[in-house]
Amino acid sequence: MSNNARITSNFSIPPTVSPALILGTATVLGVLVFLLKFLLPKCQISKGQEPVSVSSKQTEYVTTFPPSQRSLLGDILGNVSCVPGTDDPTALAHNVLDLNADYRHADPSKLVFTGFSVGEIHALGSFPDYAKLSGVPLPTPIPDFDLAKALARPFRPFRWAYHQTMSLKKLEPDYWIEIENTYVERIKQRQAIYAKHGKDVLKALPGSELACKEIMEMALQFVCTRYPRQFQLVDGNRTLVNHILHTRDDLTKKDPLLVLLDNIPEDFCMMLRDPTTGIYCFRAGIICSSVGWYLGDKMGLGMPAIHKTVPDYKEKMEFSMDRFFTKMPTDKPIQRGSWAFEIGEPLYLPAHDPEFNNRNHQEQSLRPEDISLRVDWQTLRRLPLSGAVVFNFKALFTPITEFRNERYVPSLILKVLSEGNEAILKYKSTWHVEHVVKPTLAEYERYQKENGLMEENWEPETLAESPFFPGWEEKWKLSTGC
Ligand SMILES: *[C@@H]1O[C@H](CO)[C@@H](O)[C@H](O)[C@H]1NC(C)=O
Ligand SMILES: *[C@@H]1O[C@H](CO)[C@@H](O)[C@H](O)[C@H]1NC(C)=O
Repeated sequence: MSNNARITSNFSIPPTVSPALILGTATVLGVLVFLLKFLLPKCQISKGQEPVSVSSKQTEYVTTFPPSQRSLLGDILGNVSCVPGTDDPTALAHNVLDLNADYRHADPSKLVFTGFSVGEIHALGSFPDYAKLSGVPLPTPIPDFDLAKALARPFRPFRWAYHQTMSLKKLEPDYWIEIENTYVERIKQRQAIYAKHGKDVLKALPGSELACKEIMEMALQFVCTRYPRQFQLVDGNRTLVNHILHTRDDLTKKDPLLVLLDNIPEDFCMMLRDPTTGIYCFRAGIICSSVGWYLGDKMGLGMPAIHKTVPDYKEKMEFSMDRFFTKMPTDKPIQRGSWAFEIGEPLYLPAHDPEFNNRNHQEQSLRPEDISLRVDWQTLRRLPLSGAVVFNFKALFTPITEFRNERYVPSLILKVLSEGNEAILKYKSTWHVEHVVKPTLAEYERYQKENGLMEENWEPETLAESPFFPGWEEKWKLSTGC
């Protein structure tokens, strides 16, 4: 796909073709459950790990650290002298910063759990080369990016049979963060959600200062590289200029999470390592697009407490999950989509919101055009300096009427809705729209068979183009006017 595919000429966007990029709903739970089911068992098997007792697990985590990126320091800093960090786990375990400690006021000899000393972190300063530090390249620039015509790609992350393939993919470095034509509206919507819900959607606990600064700098470095006409760092990287919103942010004064809120329409959830247990806890984030839960309710919790409502988590998943977090390297970020069907385009819908009860009944007056597929496109990566494991999400809405001419998509979804795992379908609350979605998809399936878009005897299976579908690029380019 050339980058120019996103750039468009004079076509206007048909109003029905707008997989709006809303901020990510992607529930943290969804991401994690997914990881648990697919990635984790694999990691364990490949490393030949035997289940171990609780007490030895805990001891092990306290001295288990992620692969360190410190060896790259020489390249970046030259021979600037400062108190050196270490790669030695025992030294690290003895001198690592407390969970609550603010690195800005810590002794330069103290260590971040990534092995860097506080002195080294200070020497790196603002906006170090995160591509080099993380091993994930910066994106390809799109110098003539046209925001008004930009659409997110048409993700249809449906799989059959569910256990057959891993939908977890390597992150495509060009698509860590995507800006598209709902940008201005989405930023305003997120700012309004924050104005109303405050700390329930945006919060940073003590000790997350480095992680917050780092995620902000990485995100800005990304968008300034990818969309050079839209975002610019000036004044020795002290000021961000947003040419879409015509705003300037003083990065030396403004809270990093607020800089993200005002410029990047995606959610960020940051997990940091608790040195007393070696387990990762939710310590900072912005989540304006959660459905069924909200940030304020989960803040500060470790993975087991976050997942206490997930069936079988403790028995079957806790060990694998914690283990995955302790080891995840910075240069192996991953991406995936999770899906749900919604009435309208709800972005922020915690379980206590009265509208959430819509899920408990089947509205008879509902029409196909009232229902959208919501895809939460999610990425997971570790930051190289703070070591935070960061999920970021964006929610994309597509009216289900779009599927009529998307080859195999109606049949595949129908199969999943009819024969998929009951617990998963319940978790996704598909029942409240099924009475409309299923007959609509059945009609589209007939249409596709009659019009040669699919074979009469096609057996639903995960598409080779997954998470897309045959012909998606043409449709997407047409929509963006290429
Ligand atoms: C280290 O830095 C000093 C001055 O800052 C310079 O003269 C010297 O050549 C540098 N040494 C190396 C090995 O780069
Ligand atoms: C500003 O940040 C860029 C990377 O985003 C870096 O290459 C450059 O050296 C920085 N400039 C200053 C003055 O720090």
